[in-house]
Amino acid sequence: MLKPIDRRQLIARLALLGLSSTGLSTLAACQGPPTGAAASRRKHHAVRYKNGAVAADHPLASEVGVDVLRAGGNAIDAAIAVNATLGVVRPYSCGLGGGGFLVAHDERTGRSWAMNARETAPKGVWESYFTDLRSSGGPEGASRYGGHAVAVPGTPNGLFLAHRTHGTMSMSRLLAPAAEIARDGFEADASHVGAVNSLAGVRARLPWTKTISQWTWKQWCLEGTVEVGSKLSNQALADTLDALGRHGIDAWRSGTIPTGLARVARASGGKLNVASLAEYRADEIKPLTLENRFFGATIVTMPPPSSGGIAIAQILATYERLLEAAGRPSLDSAMGRHLLIEAMKPAFALRARYLADPAFAPVPVDELLEEALIEKMVSEIETDRARTAQEIDDGLQLPDDEGTSHLCVIDGQRHAVAWTSTINGTFGSFVGDPESGILLNNEMDDFTTIQGEANLYGLRQSDWNLPVPGKRPLSSMSPTILLDEDGSIEAIAGASGGPRIISATLQVLLGMSYGDLDAATAIDRSRVHHQWRPDSIRYEEDHSQAGSDWRTSLENMGHTFDDAPRGVAVVQAIRVHPDGFDPASDPRKLGVAAGY
Ligand code: GLY
Repeated sequence: MLKPIDRRQLIARLALLGLSSTGLSTLAACQGPPTGAAASRRKHHAVRYKNGAVAADHPLASEVGVDVLRAGGNAIDAAIAVNATLGVVRPYSCGLGGGGFLVAHDERTGRSWAMNARETAPKGVWESYFTDLRSSGGPEGASRYGGHAVAVPGTPNGLFLAHRTHGTMSMSRLLAPAAEIARDGFEADASHVGAVNSLAGVRARLPWTKTISQWTWKQWCLEGTVEVGSKLSNQALADTLDALGRHGIDAWRSGTIPTGLARVARASGGKLNVASLAEYRADEIKPLTLENRFFGATIVTMPPPSSGGIAIAQILATYERLLEAAGRPSLDSAMGRHLLIEAMKPAFALRARYLADPAFAPVPVDELLEEALIEKMVSEIETDRARTAQEIDDGLQLPDDEGTSHLCVIDGQRHAVAWTSTINGTFGSFVGDPESGILLNNEMDDFTTIQGEANLYGLRQSDWNLPVPGKRPLSSMSPTILLDEDGSIEAIAGASGGPRIISATLQVLLGMSYGDLDAATAIDRSRVHHQWRPDSIRYEEDHSQAGSDWRTSLENMGHTFDDAPRGVAVVQAIRVHPDGFDPASDPRKLGVAAGY
């Protein structure tokens, strides 16, 4: 039986975070070079666009967004067109079969808003659904592949909600570029080929997935023959986008689209049904707005069921104090990285224990953001020693995924949009509907799938996150906007890459804000990630001016590193200056930004 979490319980739990009080006394001795000076050695010559900018993780999508802005659309119009296009050109990351979160800020009115279009568990599942499936001989990996993995998509409702409340152009106009690309085709790039290799690997490891991935394998992988430059098109998806443009969200709620999606998900045992699709609603909600959180800046970010907003706010607030006490070391210095990693650990431990869908669990948002908690987290960090995961907490672990895409848009009126969309894993559940051309998500795996046990990734989450019909699984997606002390937009950012979304988004924001880097340089910097468990630092090949000495210093403090460097998420960002916009897309996924 799950017990409610109250504030006293939280504080008592925090007291168990097991930290000595070496604290900040030695921090001041550990100065590094000023980040701005160090970073200037790698400075890009950033273009400053005057009228509008888009950063998506595919060049065609960024161009579509700028076309909409040039044609007189606002940032929301552009974001809708970009989102729909990404669903075509990054089919393994996002699309109509997935969900997402949007955070926006309109500088003219000073109003921020957010949208929750996260997938929900369908009618017909229950808390022990995956445990029971396993004991009754269900397929290995059922929460990740095939119909059981499919949650009710939220993206179509999100597109229409954003349009109804903030759009100005017709939906048929905004969906037309995506439909045209789906119909005429586009060229696969190396990122697409990498995703196909990943799908091929799962098909080889789990042969039962060959049947359920048949359509995806043919449609998006050309049966394994796809290479860079191969032409890919999807006539059925083009027709679906046209139908949504003509008939609106009704075409999603009844008729051949929901019937077809429910049929293909159920063919491999899933519970997706027409009633759940028809009843799904995206919600416009208040974002999490935290004033004076990082050197005077205000953070506008996503509340639960995203864990990202709270974690980013905690880490930035902790890190600000640590940086100040340490004499503002460079982000790339050993001390800069040590303090960041130590700030990440308790935030990720708290994420695993306390965060879930607030409509179904008593998420203690205020308590997790209290000054007293931040002070405690700061006081327990040691300057010369890495704390073990066991010292931080003895609890739970986090999920992992790759099938996500983030976009940023700003228009000439300075309405900014950060929108992260996902189908969860690469190619989602692998289940697609040939009739509508839609690939379905595997977001059920973001729930706690097997209570009290490690999931497929060897990771665990809290029981608050067990599946219940209508509940939204915990997410790491972290669309975030930074406002300066005057309330002007300073930066927009977000990422794809599972729990690494949180650490990557905040490192890019740090680079632009604290490091005074242009957006491309902030994105290029090699990143680190520590999610508390596994108790090891994921790190990227270090091409920064800091060299690799920082790793030796961190190892001497007791930090453990992964065996080899690997990517730490994919970030899109826009840095906003009084005289223009500096957008950048992550070269890690071959993104290219645009503006005018
Ligand atoms: N499936 C990605 C996330 O929501 O964290």
